[in-house]
This record gives sequence, structure tokens and C-alpha cells, in this order.
Amino acid sequence: MNTKDIVGLIHPTLAVVVVFPIIGMVLNLAWQTRQRRLQTADHGKSKIPPVVGLEHRKIGNWLTGSVVGITLFAIAYSIYFKGVFKDFQGENMIWAILIVMIFIATVFSLIFLYKARTKLWRGIFAGLTSVGIVILGFQDGVFRRDFEWAVSHFYYGLIASILMIFSLAIVPEIYKDKSNNWRKVHTILNCLAVLVFLGQGITGSRDLLEIPLSWQQKYLYKCDWKKQVCPDSTSQVLSPEVLVASISNYPILAQTNEVLASGEFVTITPGEDTKGTAEVIQVGGKIQVRLGENFSAIEGPAVRLLLHKQNRPESYTAENYVRLGDLKSFTGEQVYDVPEGINWQDFPNVVVWCERFDVTFGSARLN
Ligand code: HEM
Ligand code: HEM
Repeated sequence: MNTKDIVGLIHPTLAVVVVFPIIGMVLNLAWQTRQRRLQTADHGKSKIPPVVGLEHRKIGNWLTGSVVGITLFAIAYSIYFKGVFKDFQGENMIWAILIVMIFIATVFSLIFLYKARTKLWRGIFAGLTSVGIVILGFQDGVFRRDFEWAVSHFYYGLIASILMIFSLAIVPEIYKDKSNNWRKVHTILNCLAVLVFLGQGITGSRDLLEIPLSWQQKYLYKCDWKKQVCPDSTSQVLSPEVLVASISNYPILAQTNEVLASGEFVTITPGEDTKGTAEVIQVGGKIQVRLGENFSAIEGPAVRLLLHKQNRPESYTAENYVRLGDLKSFTGEQVYDVPEGINWQDFPNVVVWCERFDVTFGSARLN
């Protein structure tokens, strides 16, 4: 494991070791608080000690802090390793500084929420903390699983954090309200929160299984995550030795390669550097796209090689592109078949696209 892998495990560890035990304590005390209130209302007394309400509130405070804390930590990890900080220069630098400021502002508004007494200020700081988390959560690098939002660990995390912030904000209302309406709202919303926490445990464990350690990434990111298929061993890149041996064994085949068009890759998304040559070649009766020895792209998840109608693709629809396959390697020579019946001249751009985050890395115009 390298540093990135170890830092990536801090968030799940904190969830399991700190947050979930606190949830257990809060739930136990919540149940006792309610039982005590109902028993006292019915019989005028209860065997449950009166401190349970206060204890529930005290540990509830810790729960809000820890849930918001690990959410911010998870988001910070993703933005730092996969977002704007990867290419810390020019416009990105200004954006990165702004993101750091939003992080600081979010942490401070949570601190002020703990201190605020009046309804207005509690509303303002609860709002600011929630907005801060949402803005940060929608930065590049954060994996939101938008294609499966109903089982997204990110959206569950956002809901859980906002529910905890809301619980903290309405504490004085719960105590003041003689009709118990705020208590009911609090109980209903937080029963929902318990389900969301259950979802966090399940989706978090699933995400952990999906995220490879650094040394495994180059193999696993060749998989199509949406379709849930991975290339089999026959579609792997051949090693240079095997390639040379096979070409020298078949000199006739090697001679029939004809370059029909070629182009140089240009980076489209800053930070996702893509360079090298792309060629369309005819090998016997087959049309293929070959990436040159000088090809290189930034590593990323579920990266595809395509032929596209546009040089700077604005969208990826069935009409405007043809999929050549998963990018076999982030560097070096590699060959892809153009599907039969496709005229490459209708799609005269070779494009490297990260499907998981819908980011166009680079493209080469074929001339
Ligand atoms: C999983 C999370 C939580 C659940 C399921 C939960 C549930 C409950 C329940 C069932 C009650 C008793 C309601 C009644 O008397 O009928 C209660 C009371 C209360 N809760 Fe929570 N709660 C949670 C988190 C929090 C948090 C994060 C805070 C604040 C930071 C909080 C603050 C309070 C307060 C102040 C009371 C009133 C206590 C008293 O009567 O002395 N709760 N909660
Ligand atoms: C209260 C509990 C939890 C909350 C509020 C929470 C919240 C979050 C949030 C907001 C993210 C950001 C998504 C991203 O940057 O990609 C995240 C990521 C992640 N969480 Fe949690 N989490 C919780 C518990 C867990 C648990 C129990 C595990 C595993 C055992 C876990 C594993 C992960 C993993 C692996 C990621 C990275 C996901 C990815 O990049 O695909 N989380 N979490």
C-alpha cells in the first residue's frame, strides 16, 4: 500500500471505529429518553434515570460533529487526489484556494452552530454548513454514482450529514415545545437517519470492494463499470517482445499495414494530459486504430477509446461516437479494431474519455 491507499482507508476506519459506536450509544439513549418521558406521563414516575435525555443530547452533539467530520474528510480526500489539486497551476490554483476557503468556512459555521443561541443564527449556521458540504461534494473528483443515485454512498452521506446538522440546530426547540411537535419531527427524521446510516454501512463496504489499491488500478480501471464487464486476457496489450516476435514471424502481414490517416493527441481537460500519435491503418481487410509508442494519458477509472464526430466532444450519444474499447494501456503502442460497417471518416477524431466521471481527456484529429 502507498500513502494514497493508506489515507483512503482513514475515512472507513473512522466510520467503523468512531461514528457507528456513537450511533449505537445515541440510539440506546434516545430509546430510554422516550420510554422515560412516556412512563412519567403515564404513571408520574420512571425507573429510568433522568440524565438519559441530557446524555442523549451530549452524545448527539458528538454524533453531528463526527458525521460532518468524516463526510468532509472523505470529500477532501477525493478532491485532493482526484480533483483540481492534481494539476495545481494557473486557473486551477485559484479554484483550489477557493475550495480550501470553503472547507474552512464550513468547519467554522459548524463550530458557530454549536455556539449559536438564537433561532436566527442557528438557522443561518445550519444552512451555511449544509450548503458548504453540498458545494464541496459537487467538486470534480468526488464519486457521486449519479448513474445509480438511489444507492449512492455520496448522496446517503449528504442526507445523513444534513439530518444531523438539523438535529443539532433544533435542540432548544425540542425542549421549549410543550406540544412535543419538534420532538416528533426529530424522532421521525432521525429514524430515517438510522436507515440512511444502515445504507452508509452497506454502500461504503461495497465501494471499498470496488476501489482497487494503487497497484491494482491499471487492471481494474479497464473494466466497464456500468455494464459490469472486464476485458478478458485475450484483449490485453501484448508485451513489446511478444509483439516484435509475432510481427517478425509474419513479415507479410507486417508489410500490408497502410497508414490511412494520422493525428496528434491534444489535451482537452486541463490536468488530464494526453499526448502521442493516433493512426488509422489498414491491415489486410481490417481497419484499425493504432496509438503510437509515444502515446500517454493520465490514469483514470473506466477510460475508453472512441472515434467521435466532434474534435472537442460536447456529448456522448449513440449517434456521435463509436466505441473502440477500453483503453488497454495508459502508455505506449496499442491497436484497436474499428467495428465492421463503420466508416472511420464519419468519425474523424480519436478520443480518450473517462466514462466513470464523463471527462474527455484528449483527442486527435485524423488527417
Ligand atoms: C440517530 C440519531 C438520533 C435518533 C434516532 C434520535 C432520536 C431521539 C428520540 C427518539 C428522542 C426522544 C423523543 C421523545 O421524547 O419522544 C430524542 C430526543 C432528543 N434528541 Fe435525539 N436522536 C438522534 C440524534 C440526535 C442528535 C444528533 C441530537 C443533537 C445534537 C439530538 C438531540 C435530542 C434532544 C435534545 C432530545 C430531547 C432530550 C430530552 O428530552 O432531554 N438527537 N431523540
Ligand atoms: C456515517 C457514515 C458515513 C458517512 C457519512 C460517509 C460519507 C461519505 C462521503 C460523503 C463520501 C464521499 C464520496 C467520494 O468522495 O467519493 C464517502 C466516500 C467513501 N466512503 Fe463513506 N461514509 C460513511 C461510512 C462509510 C463506511 C462504513 C465505509 C466502509 C466500510 C465507507 C467507505 C467509503 C469509501 C470506500 C468511499 C470512497 C468512495 C469512492 O470514491 O468511490 N464509508 N463516504
